[in-house]
Amino acid sequence: MSFTITSLGGYIHEYQKSILNPAQFWEQIAEEFFWRKRWDVALSHDFSEPRVEWFRGGKLNIVENCLDRHLFTRGDQPAIIFEPNNGTGATPEPSRTLTYRQLHSEVCRASHALARLGVQQGDRVAIYLPLIPEAIIAMLACARLGAVHSVVFGGFSPQALRERTNDCGARVLITADGAYRGEKEVALKAAADEALRGCPLVTDVLVVKRTGAEVPMMKGGPKDRRDHWWHEALASSEPTHEAVATDAEDMLFVLYTSGSTGKPKGVVHTVGGYMVYTAYTFKNVFQCRSGHGSGSSIERDIFWCTADVGWITGHSYVTYGPLLAGSTILIYEGIPTYPDPGRYWEIIDKHHVTHFYTAPTAIRALQALGNEHIEPYHLSSLRVLGSVGEPLNEDAWHWYHHHIGKERCPVVDTWWQTETGGIMIAPLAGITPTKPAHVTLPLPGVQPVIVDTNGTELVGNSVEGNLCIRFPWPGILRTTFGDHERCRQSYFSQYPGLYFTGDGAKRDENGYIRILGRVDDVINVSGHRLGTAEIENAINEHPKVLESAVVGYPHPIKGEGIYAYAIVDLTDRSADNLVREIKETVVRIIGPIARPEVVILVPGLPKTRSGKIMRRILRSLAAGDASNFGDTSTLINPEIVEQIVAAVGSMSQP
Ligand code: PRX
Repeated sequence: MSFTITSLGGYIHEYQKSILNPAQFWEQIAEEFFWRKRWDVALSHDFSEPRVEWFRGGKLNIVENCLDRHLFTRGDQPAIIFEPNNGTGATPEPSRTLTYRQLHSEVCRASHALARLGVQQGDRVAIYLPLIPEAIIAMLACARLGAVHSVVFGGFSPQALRERTNDCGARVLITADGAYRGEKEVALKAAADEALRGCPLVTDVLVVKRTGAEVPMMKGGPKDRRDHWWHEALASSEPTHEAVATDAEDMLFVLYTSGSTGKPKGVVHTVGGYMVYTAYTFKNVFQCRSGHGSGSSIERDIFWCTADVGWITGHSYVTYGPLLAGSTILIYEGIPTYPDPGRYWEIIDKHHVTHFYTAPTAIRALQALGNEHIEPYHLSSLRVLGSVGEPLNEDAWHWYHHHIGKERCPVVDTWWQTETGGIMIAPLAGITPTKPAHVTLPLPGVQPVIVDTNGTELVGNSVEGNLCIRFPWPGILRTTFGDHERCRQSYFSQYPGLYFTGDGAKRDENGYIRILGRVDDVINVSGHRLGTAEIENAINEHPKVLESAVVGYPHPIKGEGIYAYAIVDLTDRSADNLVREIKETVVRIIGPIARPEVVILVPGLPKTRSGKIMRRILRSLAAGDASNFGDTSTLINPEIVEQIVAAVGSMSQP
């Protein structure tokens, strides 16, 4: 692809072009892809509605661009290298490679299998799988049919899966018998079955055999089975398939993410803009070389992004971006510490990984486990290190740069969101000079604006405020599924004419951007977004809880931890039991990622006259600062503050 930037001067030039004439700039990038029909209008938008359309009138299939387009030039090149959970030790399961040709055949077969179940263009399909090649095949099979995938992270609870499946109106679910996670075997099918008891629209389930666990295969209506084995359905399908031509603005996927309210939002991305944006950002940020096809003497990089396909990073930089660019991706099913904390470094050594893209939480956790786990392995294949999902603090940045990158590899700290579709602010590897804890400069096409709370733009350098984006880029979300007004309210209403990110940011004296974290009621735990209201709703499900309030607090590994205050009825329960039960309730309702670190039982919560909880106080206390709560004169119950302080002091901390 000829749109790769190769120098700082080139970046500045492209950036200026993209601001002077954004539509023309992105049209030039879009020309590089295969369109069944060219678009009529490059860009049409109005942020007040909001309405954003890129490449209107264009017809294409994104999978044709990910796979078919590469078959002649790189059919025999690895597309996916799969490293299983149990890929090391005495009896390792071998890793598995799928070439572009093999991946194409599998996707075609899966498309036929879905079509036989009645899946048509525009239908939604829920995917609840571990990080195995079938997860990527399933996503691409949907997209090939013009169907809409909604991937739900395999660590989410049955209830969370049920809510998401129902919200997007999925008719088919793709899951697996089980999943391997470190030493554990997760009963995924059992969780899916439980979820489906409340999903009347789902008529068919495709089940991937992963662990071989005994699972019941259920019957559906009088004529059909509800559950079908994936391998059987694919075995009886043709390895070729005519991709459906979709409109550029047709939905590609729905991905649920947490916001300020209790209910997760189904962020919607569409085909054309997302394709152009993920491919462009992948190529330029990571500077990944994809060789010139099979047998090429030009070096081919191995790109390993550790994200699960249940998150946006797994959509944009495990699946679509790298495949659009014809790269080779590595996916790993397991956890960083199984069977020992050297596992990531062993995988890099074993597969000669050149690009490693992970989250600050993983970096900090591995740093804390000690450098002796790195020593046995050669990391000399590495060329680029990436980070995403939360602020990468200076200490972790230096450790990553020094111990993993051996001071040879640029660290690209990439800021973006589920809603932005792709990377927005980040250095270009080896091109943009980096600065620890700074995400540096916007990518071409991205116009960041820092505003104060009144919405006044803070121009120039050395300013701090709320981060907004001024102009649409091709990867911007188009709506929130089934509730367009919510999209407007959440992102386009605070500062008219701007997209509001929900993050605070600082521009330093040289114009480099540093992300300060969320300024709304969203907590970022280990790079996973959770709404405080969502966790409170879950806590309130416990019959003994009268009311609760959840805040984030600084956590040395996870970035932020979950700190909950609950007003409870203590009759017939001990405090210790209640704390444990409350934590379990949250795990049951949302999943283990939302388990509160701390639960404090309190007699009341600090409230203003209008009944609003004064979270500032709760946040200070959670951060260990009981000395300064600021102005509390508007509290209706100021005496409660001392009682909460006492409760915090008396309860044992983890
Ligand atoms: O607060 C920012 C943080 O993660 C949020 C987006 O979360 P999500 O939609 O789950 O997507 C995560 C993966 C793209 C942002 O609003 N965030 C993401 N990247 C960074 C970051 N904070 C600081 N530095 C980053 N590089």
